[in-house]
Amino acid sequence: MSHHSNGITTMEKLNGHVTKANGSVITKRGDVIKENNDVITRDVPPALMPVVAGLTSKRKHVPYWYLYDTRGSELFEEIITTSKTYGVWQKEYSILQNHSDDIASKTSSPVILVELGSGASSKTRLVIEAMLRRHGSLEFVPVDVSKEHIEEVGQQLERDYEGLTVEPFGGLYMDGLCHLSARNEPKMMLFLGNSFSNTQIHEQVDMMKDIRAQLTTKDRFVIGLNMDRDPKSLLKAYGPQWTPFQKDNCIDRLNKDFDGDMDAAKFDFITEVVENPADGDTPSYVAGYWKSSLAHCVHFRKLGLTLEFQSGEKFWFTEGPSWSCGWNLHQIRRLAERSGFALEDYWTDEDGEYCTACLAPVA
Ligand SMILES: C[S@@+](CC[C@H](N)C(=O)[O-])C[C@H]1O[C@@H](n2cnc3c(N)ncnc32)[C@H](O)[C@@H]1O
Repeated sequence: MSHHSNGITTMEKLNGHVTKANGSVITKRGDVIKENNDVITRDVPPALMPVVAGLTSKRKHVPYWYLYDTRGSELFEEIITTSKTYGVWQKEYSILQNHSDDIASKTSSPVILVELGSGASSKTRLVIEAMLRRHGSLEFVPVDVSKEHIEEVGQQLERDYEGLTVEPFGGLYMDGLCHLSARNEPKMMLFLGNSFSNTQIHEQVDMMKDIRAQLTTKDRFVIGLNMDRDPKSLLKAYGPQWTPFQKDNCIDRLNKDFDGDMDAAKFDFITEVVENPADGDTPSYVAGYWKSSLAHCVHFRKLGLTLEFQSGEKFWFTEGPSWSCGWNLHQIRRLAERSGFALEDYWTDEDGEYCTACLAPVA
C-alpha cells in the first residue's frame, strides 16, 4: 500500500484490475476518469462526479448540495421546524406572515413565482397565498437539487391551492435559472431560509451577479438572510442537533452511492464561528466539518478507492470554508450593490435577527 499526502491510498482489486488513486487526476468538475486510470468512475452518473472529485481531493469534502437527497430534505425540514435554538424558520415565517402581500405587490401580472432551493416550500405557502389573492392564478417554479422531494411537494401544493400550477425543476440553481431564461413574464424570485448563505463566501458576489444576469428590471429578487451574528448564538443554532442530517445521512448516502464502509460513529460533528468586522463587506460565518476520531481507512468499492484518515483529520461537507453566514444590513446592502441590484425594501423580525430583502435589478 502506498501513501499520498492527501490521505488517499492505492489498492483495491476490482473487476480483476488493480487500480490506484492519487487524487490528482480529477482536475475539474465533470471529468470522467477511465477505468484503470486511478479511481473507477465508469458507473458513476455524471451528476455525482463532483462528489468523486471532492472525495479524492486533498481537502476531502462533498459538495453541500449532496446532503439533500430525499431523506436529507426530510431531516432538514424536521430540524428547522422543531429546533429550539435554530430560529431561522420561525423568524422568516413571521416576516412572511406580515409582509407576503407587500412582496406580492412588487411585480405585475402575469407573474411567475420562482423559488431557488425550495425544499418543502413550507414558508413559501404564505407568498403563494398572497399572490393568488392578488392575481387569481399563479405558476410556481420550484428549483431544487432534491428532485423527488420537490415533485412530491409540488403535487401537494397543487392539491391545496386552486389556481396554482407547479412546474418543478429538479437540478442545480444555475441550471434552473437557465431553464427559465426563455420566459418573458415578470418573475418574482425567492431565495428563502438563508440558503444563499450556503454559497461559499468567496463566490457569493459572483453567484449574485449570475442571478442578476438572468433577471430583467421588471423582476424582483427576494432573499432571506440571517442577521444573527452573535458567535454563542450561532454555535447553538448550528450545533450537534444537525448531526443526523449533516453527517449521518450523508455518510449513508455515500455508502449507498459508492458501495462504501464509512462509519459515521468514527467522525465527530464540529462547528466553528469565524467573525468578520461589522463594517466590512464579508459576513461572519459558521464553518462545519466531521473530524475523524481515530486513524482508519474507508473503502468505496464502486470507485476502487480507499481513503485514509488520520486521527483528527477533517472531512468537510462544504466545497469551501463556510457553511452558513450571519449578516448585517450594511453587508446585505453592499452585496446587492456589488452585484447589480438595489435594496428596494426589507423587513426584519421583531428582534432584528433575520432580514427578508426585496432587491430590484438595476438597469
Ligand atoms: C437551506 S435549505 C432551504 C429550504 C427552504 N427554502 C427553506 O427556506 O426552508 C436549501 C435548499 O436548497 C437545495 N439546494 C442546496 N444546494 C443547492 C444547489 N446548489 N442547487 C439547487 N438546490 C440546492 C436543498 O435541496 C434545500 O432544499
